[in-house]
Amino acid sequence: MPSSKTSPSDSAPALHPQIEAAGRGEIPPWARVSRGRREHMERVARLLGKWARSLKLPPEQAVRWRAAGILHDALKNERPEVLRRTLVPELDRLPDALLHGPAAARRLEEEGVDDEDFLRAVAFHTLGHPELCGLGRALVVADYIEPGRRDRKKWKKSRRSRMPQEFPVVLRDVVRARIQGTLGRDRTLHPETVGLWNVLAEESPWEPGTAGARKMALR
Ligand SMILES: [Fe+2]
Ligand SMILES: [Fe+2]
Repeated sequence: MPSSKTSPSDSAPALHPQIEAAGRGEIPPWARVSRGRREHMERVARLLGKWARSLKLPPEQAVRWRAAGILHDALKNERPEVLRRTLVPELDRLPDALLHGPAAARRLEEEGVDDEDFLRAVAFHTLGHPELCGLGRALVVADYIEPGRRDRKKWKKSRRSRMPQEFPVVLRDVVRARIQGTLGRDRTLHPETVGLWNVLAEESPWEPGTAGARKMALR
């Protein structure tokens, strides 16, 4: 018999066990990652956890934020032909390097995760997406500026020092830098990326300081 002491009035919805576990730093058994990639995932999770704490997000949100850091690259080192087989047709058009996000989201969905915002955050962490929630937006930033990244070290360090209190502005800086990088290499700009940029351009200017950062984090 379930104990009558368990509180049915908890307002926060229960988190999926795989999100709870990843929130504790556990890599799922189905992950395919090198040691270096695993360390990157842990650094991204640490950054997200730190930002969630300083923005005073509710505890279950902090778990989701850390879990997204751990799970976003969980299939990064799986072979593209394997990932491609798991994807829905409209995502199958993506180049090899972009498959691991949608494939990880698909795998989480198969495991029973039905948190749509979380799944979208994982699926579109590389491309960006106009409908990313606060967590998805924070993941885009953390993935790009985590301290293990070797390129543009000074630029990234200065953006880390402004997070999370200037979250909206740093996010725009990161999305712009990624788009400029894509253009500089004459690569394809995906509509999801442009869509995120346009949403940010329309939302700006943001309320300054922590109030604006928290609002974006909880959107
Ligand atoms: Fe990734
Ligand atoms: Fe990553």
